[in-house]
Amino acid sequence: MISPISHPQPSDPAARQADFMPILGTDHVELYVSNARQAAHYYQTAFGFQPLAYKGLETGSRELASYVLQQGKIRLVLTSPLRSGTDVGRHIDQHGDGVKVAALWVEDADYAYREAVKRGARPYMEPRVEEDEHGKVVLSGIYTFGEVVHLFVERKDYRGIFLPGYQKWEPAYRPEPVGLKYVDHIVGNVRLGYMNKWVKYYEEVLGFKQILSFDDKDISTEYSALMSKVMSNGNGRIKFPINEPAPGLKKSQVEEYLEFYEGEGVQHLAVATDNIIQTVRALRSRGVEFLQVPGSYYDALEERVGKIDEDMNELRELGILVDRDDEGYLLQIFTRAVQPRPTMFFEIIQRKGATSFGKGNFKALFEALEREQALRGNL
Ligand code: FE2
Repeated sequence: MISPISHPQPSDPAARQADFMPILGTDHVELYVSNARQAAHYYQTAFGFQPLAYKGLETGSRELASYVLQQGKIRLVLTSPLRSGTDVGRHIDQHGDGVKVAALWVEDADYAYREAVKRGARPYMEPRVEEDEHGKVVLSGIYTFGEVVHLFVERKDYRGIFLPGYQKWEPAYRPEPVGLKYVDHIVGNVRLGYMNKWVKYYEEVLGFKQILSFDDKDISTEYSALMSKVMSNGNGRIKFPINEPAPGLKKSQVEEYLEFYEGEGVQHLAVATDNIIQTVRALRSRGVEFLQVPGSYYDALEERVGKIDEDMNELRELGILVDRDDEGYLLQIFTRAVQPRPTMFFEIIQRKGATSFGKGNFKALFEALEREQALRGNL
């Protein structure tokens, strides 16, 4: 089970009943990538993911190959086509590498699908049972923004390694994990004027609640701005911030994403650690590249966030950001884009009580992002 990140549980029966879409956690995240074998090597070597499962020609999958990696409770599936003319290939041609599926672990995938579709979700996959000698799973799915889908995964009657059709993947090569534990949040970038549409979609279709919002007054620099609303499911285990660009003097980072992804999609995956200093040190030593933070950020840090357990010099050396809210503080850092297009990236986050998303860091982050954007000639 994925432990909830301090979020109020509805205590009265009426409120509990209002959560018509109970979700146990993030089941997995699937990326469509042009070379899943090499991407798997990257996520093993650089990010410390462990090999878990595989399907491809050797397992009778003639169209697609998928590598499944795991670290803590985070499962990544990397999928590539084995021939031309597939939906996956078309997706990669348009978007480059990116997230196709944010899969949600549910008790009842048939019920989840029926409830969501009844409330206006656009169907992706009708409930279907998949079986092998290890049991059965029920899968169903709905579309969200862009071409992203939420798969509902019901696996209570399944004992296999991942899903039917997959075999254990046991290569000799196994770099150590770096301490990544679970998916903290998954962020979507949507078109200008569409944030509220998707907020409403998550409210109506999945029963999510808006827990935070930022407007362009919170998140802006001289050049660019964005607006963001954070949606959470009933038990707080699933959090989807949704960003839309706000007008700035120059092109915002969300606009740059939308242009290069050629549509709406997942901007970043935030993964949690219990020791961000160790994790980021390991990631850096393995070649993961992070956004540079201006040195001046640390000069004013203690004044802004007060006393923290970590050594400021280590944070400065590693480029880790800190923010505080009413409940505590958090440490976070953002990787550079993990593919040639300036689209998806990762966030590494450690929460020390804070339940927010680093609003105070956005300005520092944006200035860093804009320096990179300017280098690419896109500002
Ligand atoms: Fe984030």
